[in-house]
Amino acid sequence: MSLRFNPDILAVPRMRNMVSKEEVQAQYGVEKVYRMSYNESPLGPSPKAIAAMQETAVSLGDYSDFSDDRLRQALAETFGRGLSADHFVCSTSGFEALEFVGRAFLQPGDEVIVSHPTFGVYNRLARMSGAKLIDVVLQPETFAFDVDGILAAVTENTRLVIVCNPNNPTGNLLTAAQMERLVNGLPDHVLLVADEVYFHFVDSPDFPDSLQYVLDGRNVVIIHTFSKGYGLAGLRLGYAIAPPEIADYLGRLQRGFHLNGVAIAGGLAALADQEHLQKNVALVQAQKRWLYGQYDRLDLRYWPSETNFMLVELPGAAELVCQKLLSYGVMVRPAGIATMPNVLRVTVSTPDGNETFINGLEEILRQW
Ligand SMILES: Cc1ncc(COP(=O)(O)O)c(C=O)c1O
Repeated sequence: MSLRFNPDILAVPRMRNMVSKEEVQAQYGVEKVYRMSYNESPLGPSPKAIAAMQETAVSLGDYSDFSDDRLRQALAETFGRGLSADHFVCSTSGFEALEFVGRAFLQPGDEVIVSHPTFGVYNRLARMSGAKLIDVVLQPETFAFDVDGILAAVTENTRLVIVCNPNNPTGNLLTAAQMERLVNGLPDHVLLVADEVYFHFVDSPDFPDSLQYVLDGRNVVIIHTFSKGYGLAGLRLGYAIAPPEIADYLGRLQRGFHLNGVAIAGGLAALADQEHLQKNVALVQAQKRWLYGQYDRLDLRYWPSETNFMLVELPGAAELVCQKLLSYGVMVRPAGIATMPNVLRVTVSTPDGNETFINGLEEILRQW
């Protein structure tokens, strides 16, 4: 008798690193590498968070707090609005918060509705549980969500509708009015997952108030992370916000000592330093406007974005331009939209990084 491998797990590929900054530096002999391909934050974490983590590191010999109580309490106080610690469940990343939802609600044969082009991890999550992915694609060109299409695709097997808001990679919103129609239109057996990991960067007044749906006890789970606005991508810390019954159910998937003590200390200190968060957001907004101006100057079409990244269209294959930009020390990536091979996804970097990217791009376009 041989080992029995779960075919649903075999169906998902292993996560692999892309080329590292160090490899680019060594291969192209560039002094500095700007990674504008992972949607990380230009400022990185609050110095206060770094200090708190350093201080806590000496206690890594001990198990951390068993529960995430302190962090959940601090999150509730940060958001206010009458949210309590019971509305939160912490995880070792936004990825994991999404995985909690998948493991908690999906069984083989269930259906998950998503809208491509979007974050690839939703496919993984569905496949891993043997669930079927139903794709209600975004409108071509505008990338607008098709709420009627989503509602029409719901069957008695639908368990989750996942909306990435604002969406990765397109940067646009499911608007407040669309969210209202979706929440009210979904039957009771469907959970709406609002992946809002980029919410700090949203500028538009059209962004839905998803917290209100949670407070109203609707079937809504919001996914957040410390990776983006708080600049702590390497720490691996995220959380879900949901009505207490759902949050408690998801929390049952945590292991003992689930979060490490350094992550808890870093998260608490990051929450306490809202000034640093605002600095990061302001920098992203200003640099985004600067990049838009450069695209206008270079006569490139781009899609204004509610996130810390945006899509820009080139006269030729994005893949090739990504390759060429490596020799300038700039890492960007194609948007990954099958019908739009010339579209690049660019993470907003520091002023230095953005300038290096634009200078490199301009040279490449000149030689095209
Ligand atoms: C839409 C979306 N959701 C979730 C995540 C996961 O973030 P993390 O696992 O770093 O918390 C990402 C990361 O890029 C993302 O783009």
